[in-house]
Amino acid sequence: RENISIGLLGLGVVGAGVAQIIENHREKLIHQLGSEVNVKSVLVRDPEKIRNIDKEQTHITTNPDDILKDPEIDVIVEVMGGVEEARQYILQAFSAKKHVVTANKDLVALHGPELQEIASLNKCDFYYEASVAGGIPILRGITGGLSADHIQQVMGIVNGTTNYILTKMDNEGVSYEDALMEAKDLGFAEADPTADVEGLDAARKMAILGRLAFSTNVDLEEVEVSGIKNLELADLEYGNTLGYTMKLIGSAKCKDQKVEVNVQPTLLSKNHPLADVKNEYNAVYVYGEAVGETMFYGPGAGGLPTATAIMSDVVEVIKHIHLGVNGTQVTEPRFKKELMKADQ
Ligand code: NDP
Ligand code: HSE
Repeated sequence: RENISIGLLGLGVVGAGVAQIIENHREKLIHQLGSEVNVKSVLVRDPEKIRNIDKEQTHITTNPDDILKDPEIDVIVEVMGGVEEARQYILQAFSAKKHVVTANKDLVALHGPELQEIASLNKCDFYYEASVAGGIPILRGITGGLSADHIQQVMGIVNGTTNYILTKMDNEGVSYEDALMEAKDLGFAEADPTADVEGLDAARKMAILGRLAFSTNVDLEEVEVSGIKNLELADLEYGNTLGYTMKLIGSAKCKDQKVEVNVQPTLLSKNHPLADVKNEYNAVYVYGEAVGETMFYGPGAGGLPTATAIMSDVVEVIKHIHLGVNGTQVTEPRFKKELMKADQ
């Protein structure tokens, strides 16, 4: 196949990043994949908005059928956010045998296993590297690089907005409100930043990490969460005088076949490796029985870093299309219960 056509659901911070990478890295992608990748159509809410995209090449639409029912579109990239509407579009995409890549952690944390199963039944790929820690390839790290190890703990800073706010408050004395405003302007915060500041966004990411690291489902309702909304400059200053830095830390551990996940503001000694992770950067510490300590670090939010993770999934999908091995999931482990059943 010479051309691979992408349908983008959403052209905001992340969608625009995806379009930009496809445009700017065109030659590299052709060289790497042997086919040209193009964004054929884009779904948006407001078709009148001024956008940095070539309208001669890309059809901008408010009708999802223009994308989901277009037989020329091979891959759907969902970067619109929200849960139910996105889920319905993805299900329609699988019915039409289209592969799906998403950055939507809200959706993946709630419906990941269901969507994965339906993707497999339809022999479609379903990838979501961008849903956790933006540009850091942490899901492939866990399900690829560390897949043969017994992971014992995953811990880290997985929300860029709150880390940006805490850094600005701690290092520059900026108020919580002003720092949040900056994080919104820079495109790090969610459309509604409540989930960021209340720790829910981090909880969803930790649930996804816990599920993949420990091959067992994680119920979001059971994740203990507290955010940074009620922290004041004085709390941070007090920590500082004692040699500590405040960070929003997520943790996932497996105990008696059950994954315990929590997210909470934590005072870290300034010597702790996570204390030095600043602004929108994220870091995830993974401890494996065989490998020991590993640390993954990089930009956790923002258009281009997140789009890089999406494009890594798109490249994987296109390789599968060329090899004729669609629907071969390399990132989703079989859950422990299923393995135990299969062994009996
Ligand atoms: P934005 O709000 O910037 O963009 C959302 C885009 O989707 C817009 O183009 C919007 O259209 C379109 N859209 C939203 N709802 C609908 C709808 N119902 N029908 C049609 N179009 C719709 O969001 P982001 O790009 O920041 O985030 C997108 C996804 O990526 C979210 O799931 C987010 O959680 C995730 N993500 C974001 C990161 C970031 O750093 N921003 C990092 C990692 C993941 P219009 O332009 O007309 O308003
Ligand atoms: N709002 C999210 C964050 C985007 O700040 O981390 C990246 O998932």
